[in-house]
Amino acid sequence: MGLVLNGPRVVLRPARTDDVDELLSILREPEVARRWGRFERTDVEDKFVGDAKVFVIDVDGDAVGAIQYDEEDDPMYRHASIDIFLTTSRHNQGIGSEAIRVLAKHLIADRGHHRLTIDPAADNHAAIRSYEKVGFRKVGVMRSYERGPDGMWHDGLLMEMLADELVQP
Ligand SMILES: CC(C)(COP(=O)(O)OP(=O)(O)OC[C@H]1O[C@@H](n2cnc3c(N)ncnc32)[C@H](O)[C@@H]1OP(=O)(O)O)[C@@H](O)C(=O)NCCC(=O)NCCS
Repeated sequence: MGLVLNGPRVVLRPARTDDVDELLSILREPEVARRWGRFERTDVEDKFVGDAKVFVIDVDGDAVGAIQYDEEDDPMYRHASIDIFLTTSRHNQGIGSEAIRVLAKHLIADRGHHRLTIDPAADNHAAIRSYEKVGFRKVGVMRSYERGPDGMWHDGLLMEMLADELVQP
């Protein structure tokens, strides 16, 4: 049993093989796929199950999405970055900001990070608002940063939060 992180409503827990169908179906929802790109079953198995940096977001026992982090370990630039998706029917209910807050707290308190980053598409206003509620601030637009499922390059927004900026509700 890997690490489990608890918030008021969300539980962040390791991804299991029996999550693959649900995660794949969430990743294929149009609102999610336009931000995360195209996933096959093997991608979900390889990238989510058994990776200690990936957590399924559970609400009331239902897998409603996933959140993951990555770490830059060069001591001069040490920081962690976060990515997240939620099933469309659970958007705009504060679940995303809570999941990010719970993971950010872990990255700061347990993994010793002083700085976290997140990089939504520049036009992903719901994501930007959600991250601002947690304490992330806009750094600037990264032009032609990521290639979308439409094959075109799109701008990304670099956002960062220092440890003492985490907003506790
Ligand atoms: C991004 C995501 C994780 C945010 O999670 P969430 O639970 O929906 O976010 P929250 O409910 O915490 O916050 C959303 C905020 O955006 C606001 N919002 C929604 N649509 C908006 C829009 N078009 N413009 C501005 N704000 C908007 C909501 O009102 C809410 O703010 P409020 O609480 O002040 O009212 C979720 O929407 C998602 O999974 N989207 C699809 C995948 C994705 O975009 N992943 C992020 C890649 S970086």
